[in-house]
Amino acid sequence: MSHAEDNEGTRRDFLYYATAGAGAVTAGAVIWPLVNQMNPSADVQALSSIIVDVSGVEVGTQLSVMFLGKPVFIRRRTQEEIDEARAVELSELPDQQDRNANKPGLDASDENRTLDDAGEWLVMMGVCTHLGCVPLGDGSGDFNGWFCPCHGSHYDTAGRIRKGPAPENLPVPTAVFLDETTIQLG
Ligand code: FES
Repeated sequence: MSHAEDNEGTRRDFLYYATAGAGAVTAGAVIWPLVNQMNPSADVQALSSIIVDVSGVEVGTQLSVMFLGKPVFIRRRTQEEIDEARAVELSELPDQQDRNANKPGLDASDENRTLDDAGEWLVMMGVCTHLGCVPLGDGSGDFNGWFCPCHGSHYDTAGRIRKGPAPENLPVPTAVFLDETTIQLG
């Protein structure tokens, strides 16, 4: 079996619809049938991906979706948020590693973490790197990004840890734009 056939036969894609402003999500139809279920490959889990429609996400709002059992934040940042994140020196960051599955090994500059060059779209796992709570968004915390109330971890507008017990930046999962309003995770 070719890799392409294997991929198509075992991948489950789910479609999410964003509700403008509210950040609500509805799980939609399974668009790829699982035709190879009697003979699953060892890396079915690794091939799993979801397609997210972000056409309803306004500037300054965040869409949360579930991916592989964990929340993923998709934020469309304001210019102010972008400017704030890009003005930060690496030396100010407790964790200077990128934590980005798309571009491993780079530093945690804002430019390395965003999905687009302009920095409007930030996609991150919504799981606090301390003990796994889901941080609050929409400009929360001392650095106007995300705040984890469990033990007080503050993340900045690029999702980088700035204060509190969390040791690492919020990780960026594998993600890509399929077109202007569609993001594939995984
Ligand atoms: S789990 Fe987030 S600060 Fe402890």
